[in-house]
Amino acid sequence: MPYLSPALNVMIAAARKAGRRLVRDFGELENLQVSRKGPADFVTTADERTEKILVEELSMARPGYGFLVEEAGHIEGRDKTHRFIIDPIDGTTNFMHGVPHFAISIGLEREGQLVSGLIFNPVTDEMFVAERGHGAFLNDRRLRVAARSKLADIVVGSGAPFLGRDGRDGFLKELDAVLAATSGIRRFGSAALDLAWVAAGRFDAFWERKLQPWDIAAGLLLVREAGGMVSDLAGRDQMLENGDVLAANDTLHRTLLTMIREAG
Ligand code: 2AM
Ligand code: CA
Repeated sequence: MPYLSPALNVMIAAARKAGRRLVRDFGELENLQVSRKGPADFVTTADERTEKILVEELSMARPGYGFLVEEAGHIEGRDKTHRFIIDPIDGTTNFMHGVPHFAISIGLEREGQLVSGLIFNPVTDEMFVAERGHGAFLNDRRLRVAARSKLADIVVGSGAPFLGRDGRDGFLKELDAVLAATSGIRRFGSAALDLAWVAAGRFDAFWERKLQPWDIAAGLLLVREAGGMVSDLAGRDQMLENGDVLAANDTLHRTLLTMIREAG
């Protein structure tokens, strides 16, 4: 059984409550796909409501903790030592298109260090959790990153810069190098779930640039607690600062870091 700290239990309860509502919203989306304007406003409302439920629930259980959240930004708390980092819907584009691959992501920092993390896909009911020093779990099952080290066997998750985002040229070079050497890449549209899937050994590795802290905070802890290695693409521990991430087992991480850096 996983060790769940009191704080992680609170996070799980908040995510389950927000997730129930989110699944209902997701069901309603089907009716909106056919309208010409599409479901954009509906999704924005669902996003904001999810964030509100999470912040309310967590504030009630942990009064005074600060927040860094996607929509509302920084919310200062009286307690300067604790901060929740929240993405209410990671994989918003999937959600909007009726693709059941999105998640609520909640990380908890204590004195600037990630201590608890949760990534919850409410459609599949997969709850990925990690507690610093106590491992990572999917529901009740202990997680380990995949052990594969032969490039020819590995599947790598990534994210590609789309409309309005820089870095396409560099990404295409990196992609080319990785495609040429591996069993292939997957681009599923939720960085949080990508990291959870590395922790679960479904993906052997994941890299993406220019992510936001709320996309990755919980996922970084999950991968580390599953025995994996995470760094930015310079090999440093600055992922939350610059948004660049590479996650894999130790051996693969070294190999891919060199490959991706040399490609760019
Ligand atoms: P979102 O669904 O919460 O927007 C897909 O490549 C990943 O990138 C998702 O985790 C997505 O999160 C995130 N993403 C989308 N737009 C982004 C942006 N402008 N900056 C950083 N991350 C973004
Ligand atoms: Ca996100």
